[in-house]
Amino acid sequence: MLNVYALPTLVAPEALAGGTAVVIDVLRASTTIVYALEAGATQVIPCLEVEDARAAAAGLPPGEVVLGGERRGLPIDGFDLGNSPAEYTPDRVGGRTVVFTTTNGTRAILGCRSADRVLIGAFANASAVCRQLAGIERIHLVCAGTDGEFSRDDVLLAGLLVERIVRQVGVPYQLNAQALTARKNWRSSLALPLALGAEPLEPEVLARELRKSAGGRNLTALGLEDDILTAAQIDRARGVPELDARTFRIRLAP
Ligand code: MLT
Repeated sequence: MLNVYALPTLVAPEALAGGTAVVIDVLRASTTIVYALEAGATQVIPCLEVEDARAAAAGLPPGEVVLGGERRGLPIDGFDLGNSPAEYTPDRVGGRTVVFTTTNGTRAILGCRSADRVLIGAFANASAVCRQLAGIERIHLVCAGTDGEFSRDDVLLAGLLVERIVRQVGVPYQLNAQALTARKNWRSSLALPLALGAEPLEPEVLARELRKSAGGRNLTALGLEDDILTAAQIDRARGVPELDARTFRIRLAP
C-alpha cells in the first residue's frame, strides 16, 4: 500500500499504525530539518507551540541548544534561527540540539506519531528516503500543506517519491487516488525537462514550479526566494531524519 495524503487532516492517526509515514513540508520545515542534521546537529526536537520550544530549550545546557523556527514565515522573537535551511550551518548547529517549531511542519510530524516509523522527506534527501523505504509494504506520504490548504511543493515531492518507489521496488503497490494524482502532477509539471533527459533536475527548473505553490508564494512575498532555490536542490543530503515517537527526538535514521 502506498498512500499520499495532501494534508495531515486527510488521514486518521489509526490508519498510520503499522506503517511508515514520510512527512513532507518542502517549503520549508522538512527541508530545514534535513539541512540541520546534515550540518551536524545532534538532534531536532519538534515542538507544537513557541512556549513549548522555549521551555524545552530552557531545560537544556546553554551553549548546547539552538532555538529555531518561524511564525508567519518570519523568525520568532528571541530565537537564534528562523526557518531558512541555509541558516543551519555546521557553525551554528554542529554538535547542538535544535529545538524547532513551525506553523505546519512540526505539527504534521507530531501528528504522525502513531505510525511505526516517521521519516522526514524533502527534495534534498529524496533518493535517501527511497532507500529507506525499500522493502516496506505500508507507506504513507503525508504532506504538511500550508495553513490547512494543500501546497503544490509537497504534492510534487510526493509525486516524485511515488514514481521512484514504484519503479525501484517493482512490487505492484496499491496506490490511493491522491498518490495517482500526485504522480500525475509530478509528471505533467516536469514532463518537458524530464523528456529531454534532464535528470537530475536543475534546481532552477524545479524552483520555477515550487514558486507557484502556496508556500512558494508566501516566501516570495516575504523576500525569501533563496529558500525556494535551496529547497529545490535534489539529493543534496544523504541522511533521512527519523522521529523517535517515544522521546520526540528527530535524529538521522541508521
Ligand atoms: C511550516 O512549517 O509552516 C513551514 O515550514 C512554513 C515556512 O515556510 O516557514
